[in-house]
Amino acid sequence: MKIFVAGGTGAIGRPVLDQLLAKGHSVVALTRSQERAQSLAAQGIEPAIADVFDADSVKAAIAYAQPEVVIEQLTALPKTYSRESMAAAGPLNTRIRLEGGANVLAAAQAAGVRRYLRQSVAFWGIPGAGLADEQTPLSVDASPAVAADARLVTEIERRLLESNLEGIALRYGFFYGPGTWFNPDGDVAQQVRQQQFPIVGNGDGLWSWLHIEDAAIATVAAAEQGNPGVYLIADDQPLPVREWLPAFARSLNAPPPPQVAVEDALKLEGGADIIYYQTQMRGASNAKAKRELNFQPRSLEWVVEPAVTHAS
Ligand SMILES: NC(=O)c1ccc[n+]([C@@H]2O[C@H](COP(=O)([O-])OP(=O)(O)OC[C@H]3O[C@@H](n4cnc5c(N)ncnc54)[C@H](OP(=O)(O)O)[C@@H]3O)[C@@H](O)[C@H]2O)c1
Repeated sequence: MKIFVAGGTGAIGRPVLDQLLAKGHSVVALTRSQERAQSLAAQGIEPAIADVFDADSVKAAIAYAQPEVVIEQLTALPKTYSRESMAAAGPLNTRIRLEGGANVLAAAQAAGVRRYLRQSVAFWGIPGAGLADEQTPLSVDASPAVAADARLVTEIERRLLESNLEGIALRYGFFYGPGTWFNPDGDVAQQVRQQQFPIVGNGDGLWSWLHIEDAAIATVAAAEQGNPGVYLIADDQPLPVREWLPAFARSLNAPPPPQVAVEDALKLEGGADIIYYQTQMRGASNAKAKRELNFQPRSLEWVVEPAVTHAS
């Protein structure tokens, strides 16, 4: 198939492009940069140069490419994962998802694209018993930043799913692997080494993880054989912060993470959001992706299973 990727040069976009090429698709990727356009061309990918905020250029690029499928992976996330850097990046990240995404969606509709997939988020299912599935409402009344993000995701998913295209929202778990904050050279790893990433309270918040290459495999499977609608894409075993964080620290040869009481976290700016991620977050079920996309994710790389001993 001919597939157009917006955001193909970012952390998730790059493995998506590799996977599309590996599966024999003909690929066009959007970038703002001449230099990146040249490296895309060297990889056998047709570059399209445009800024997503320039609606006419995006429309022309997709009309020219005539793809059957569009995949949208646009973000404007910071290189560091801190409350300050995330707050500073927030407005542009929101704008790129809402306004940039709307421009790409409109251009796809105008060009007669059949299927449209976009990035979404797996960690805002409303807290409750068991794992969240695709029907679980999002936490639109949670802590301030989480609620704002959940409302944004609700809106961009609605816009896609109510469009006349075969719309698929891919709600990804927490990315790790090359180019992410959780890679050994990434920002969170650095914070963990410096004991700046604590466990808050009981650390009961369940994180659903996803290796960036598994994200790419699931994305391409959804482009090829998914059904319109929502898919949660995450590994098999959501883990509480109190388990994955000390294991992550060990894998980095870092000291154990410090502990912070909930009452002390509440005094911090954005404390309610920190408490959500650390103590309330609900894991996500990947059952639908396994069933419909034959998704077979790897286990979280830095959690070493205890050796199995067989009774004789
Ligand atoms: N969970 C995680 O750990 C996680 C997940 C994702 C990202 N991150 C972190 O976030 C940081 C940035 O990630 P990233 O590399 O994916 O983001 P990025 O470098 O900001 O790239 C996002 C993608 O969106 C495109 N894009 C952004 N604004 C655009 C615009 N106005 N017009 C057209 N295209 C636009 C970029 O294309 P061009 O720049 O080529 O134009 C690129 O393909 C990294 O440090 C990464 O570690 C972390």
